[in-house]
Amino acid sequence: MTRRKPRFIQTHQSDSHDERSAAIAGLMRTPADASPKYFYDRLGSHLFDAITELPEYYPTRTEAAIFAAHGAEMAQQIGGRSTFIDLGAGNCAKAASLLPLLDPARYVAVDISADYLRDALRRLQKEHHALDVVGVGMDFSHSPTLPSGVLSQEDRTVFFYPGSSIGNFTPDEAATFLAGIRAQVHGGGLLIGVDLVKPKAVLEAAYDDALGVTAAFNLNLLRNLNRSVGTDFDPRQWRHVALFNEGASRIEMHLEARREVDVRWPNGRRWFREGERIHTEISCKYTVDSFAALLGRAGFQSNQCWTSADGWFAVFWARV
Ligand code: AVJ
Repeated sequence: MTRRKPRFIQTHQSDSHDERSAAIAGLMRTPADASPKYFYDRLGSHLFDAITELPEYYPTRTEAAIFAAHGAEMAQQIGGRSTFIDLGAGNCAKAASLLPLLDPARYVAVDISADYLRDALRRLQKEHHALDVVGVGMDFSHSPTLPSGVLSQEDRTVFFYPGSSIGNFTPDEAATFLAGIRAQVHGGGLLIGVDLVKPKAVLEAAYDDALGVTAAFNLNLLRNLNRSVGTDFDPRQWRHVALFNEGASRIEMHLEARREVDVRWPNGRRWFREGERIHTEISCKYTVDSFAALLGRAGFQSNQCWTSADGWFAVFWARV
């Protein structure tokens, strides 16, 4: 028997000129912002995995419970032998738990952190000898359109976007992103996890845990900016802030200057007042109805939804 190996396609260049300019433009704005994609270098991906183990961070385990309870029924709806495309695969644990049920012909794992993905896919291939495994190192924060050659017209495509990562987009951006997925669905659909509105105290604890792991995750963005943009941030001068904005139904994460900070990079600098913030992430929370409406706006014709017993998280199977 020939032993299969994962194939890798790398499109993301974190040191590209455009990427740097966009990051610097964000730092120069008032209020300043930085893209959440800068969380996910290798250390950041590990810190996110640690977050998913925290008692306060309910989304990962709540979603896993939905898959455990309803996975077989989902698989029946979804059907087999498709190309299964995992957006933001990370450690591939979520997909790995579904592969035995879904039995796809091909597994395409997409993640911005290509190094991290490589390790995960080598492990996964050992458990699934016959599966055609493809890794794509790609920044899909602007568009979910896969590089040409990854999908063929004959493929029946099932997209997988778990963990409520869709919450990182505003609802308008999310509608555009979902429409971009929809355009690549041939005969299959989209299986997507969505975090739901719940009491503010539960939400805020999930994004500001007692051990400070989420704080480290947020602050690590500064190290990643130093490396990819050439800034000279000192994480010790910044404080993690997470709050639930009820009007916009979203968690907002910021980094707040503990004192005056002068940040420099090649050919530029920015001075931050004490208390001034860099906005790093939003995590939008939906209701089942508001998310179903969003799927409709994006062009999905029908959907089926499974929620956890506590009503905290939902998984949708949306079809074209
Ligand atoms: C990976 C985007 C789903 O928004 O809950 C976790 C990222 N940020 N803690 C989320 C995150 C802070 C996470 N997503």
